[in-house]
Amino acid sequence: MLAIIGAMDEEIELLLADLTAHEQLTFPGVTLHRGVLDGVPVLVTRGGIGKVNAAMTTTYLLTQGATRVIFTGVAGGVHPELRVGDIVVSTDCIQHDVDVRALDYPLGTVPGELPAWPADEVLRAAALDAAREVGGVHVVSGRIASGDQFIASREGVQRLWTTFGAACAEMEGAAVAQVCSKAGVPFVVIRSVSDTADHDANVDYRTFMPLVARHAKQVVRGMLSRLASMPA
Ligand code: ADE
Repeated sequence: MLAIIGAMDEEIELLLADLTAHEQLTFPGVTLHRGVLDGVPVLVTRGGIGKVNAAMTTTYLLTQGATRVIFTGVAGGVHPELRVGDIVVSTDCIQHDVDVRALDYPLGTVPGELPAWPADEVLRAAALDAAREVGGVHVVSGRIASGDQFIASREGVQRLWTTFGAACAEMEGAAVAQVCSKAGVPFVVIRSVSDTADHDANVDYRTFMPLVARHAKQVVRGMLSRLASMPA
């Protein structure tokens, strides 16, 4: 079964509105919505903000039979070509706020784990294909940098770009990636850019988030028709 996670209500309510055969599964802190979207059996949920919520939600989804996971939402653009409304499809995810350098691990590396969690190539190809159908936006294939921080400074953007080569900054993707990777479940993260993570990021985020969340949702809908014909 295909699972679709968004961090916030705005990011999933557009999908829930079209879910048929809708039933709710309630767990501590999380509600999963099971149903059918464009003919595809899905689990849809709001995962909450931050890596802990994302990891917990992903774990519930896997226990309920998720065999492929799409994370959809907004992000702060880090790649210099990204503007508000543009779309990033993940190549891989890293945790930019992990720092175990005192024990000789590179910045961003969780001891004993992969330095970065690569996205699934089939899901990536479907996402890129669908993203290119969203008119008037630039689509970038790139690294997602996740951390429990809202990035809102030029120095913050610069650090993510030079240290990690990140395309965008958000707060959940790498946690989903880490859990899926342990379970051998394919995943991809799709983010539309709500701000450029600099000093105006808080204002831009509040202004553009509901609008650009539609782009990520459009990509998910575009992926459904492509995935419907593929084995799960
Ligand atoms: N999500 C959207 N914009 C973001 C930013 N600037 N930093 C972290 N997460 C975000």
